[in-house]
Amino acid sequence: MHIHQQFYGVTLNGTTASLFTMKNDNGVTVSITDFGGTVVSLIAPDRNGKMLDVVLGYDSLRDYETADGYLGALVGRVANRIAGGRFELDGEVYDKLYINDGENHLHGGKVSMSYVVWGVKEFAVDDKACRLVLTYRSPDGDEGYPGNLDVTVTYTLDNTNSLSIRYEAVTDKATPLNLTNHAYFNLGGYASGSILGHELCLDAESFVVTDGALIPTGEVRPVDGTPMDFRAPKAIGRDFFADYEPLRLAGGYDHCLNFTDWRNTAGGEVILRGVLYEPVSGRRMEVLTNQPCVQFYSANFLKNPLFPLKGGLQQRTQTAVCLETQNMSGSVQHQGNPDFTDCVLRPGEVYDYTTVYRFSAD
Ligand code: BGC
Repeated sequence: MHIHQQFYGVTLNGTTASLFTMKNDNGVTVSITDFGGTVVSLIAPDRNGKMLDVVLGYDSLRDYETADGYLGALVGRVANRIAGGRFELDGEVYDKLYINDGENHLHGGKVSMSYVVWGVKEFAVDDKACRLVLTYRSPDGDEGYPGNLDVTVTYTLDNTNSLSIRYEAVTDKATPLNLTNHAYFNLGGYASGSILGHELCLDAESFVVTDGALIPTGEVRPVDGTPMDFRAPKAIGRDFFADYEPLRLAGGYDHCLNFTDWRNTAGGEVILRGVLYEPVSGRRMEVLTNQPCVQFYSANFLKNPLFPLKGGLQQRTQTAVCLETQNMSGSVQHQGNPDFTDCVLRPGEVYDYTTVYRFSAD
């Protein structure tokens, strides 16, 4: 087990960002910057022990600061979209959320948690694990959300090749909250192209139906008999081009899938919910979580020519898989609809969810 901290860059507003590298006894290496709590690289072995970086990202802090796409970043207060940048909570209207996706609010707004330097509470190692503890205070009114919100995110890497992300938060006023990490995985290596050959298995019983602007309509539909059914492993490409409206409207997979029996499991034990497997390299990533849902996004918008990726690689659609464990998208808009998750954190409550990405190869 080994940790290393280095200078990463200075942000446009003059704040220094660091890069925190954690390496386990198997050589699995994760580098995270305190800028947005962003996972910058994640190096894992294939079936022959060959090490490659399996997350997409950029070469410099400046790119992370100016590009869109949220590559590797922590996302909040509310991951995904809030229609019209407006919501109601306890009879009050909050209608000043930042509009950054057509007419809607996406991923917490303009700066939010993804484009700031977080505090570093701890960076430590012992013989079992490396740990990076990041903190951020989102002040009352931040991006239009109510309440002072204190967030702690703990990244842990251990010798089971598990990268664990624990999200904790408390608030002094009721606020909607939905935190996630937005890593873009390509288990063939970040530069290896299409992910349509990756096999995916997700223990998810239903999904949130969205409209052409990817706004949840209020319908939660069982996956049975649809291309959204990943309960048995299948290649992502198998149904990708199926004549199915939700896929057509999103240009591929960009949907919130709800884990089986999410009502009784959310917030409880961290359990295995997903497996992503890349047959050429043999790399496998298991997703364990106690979150109720996962946004499965096949990088359909990853095509901004202005922001080349690591090594100058052009952005290309469907070259990464995001498995963003979270609350159900649309929960802010559809409060009171029993098909949706609770999305409100209240004073005195503790938001506490964990997701683990575990790597192996066979
Ligand atoms: C959303 C996509 C969005 C992407 C990048 C994902 O979580 O589902 O629609 O384009 O994030 O912002």
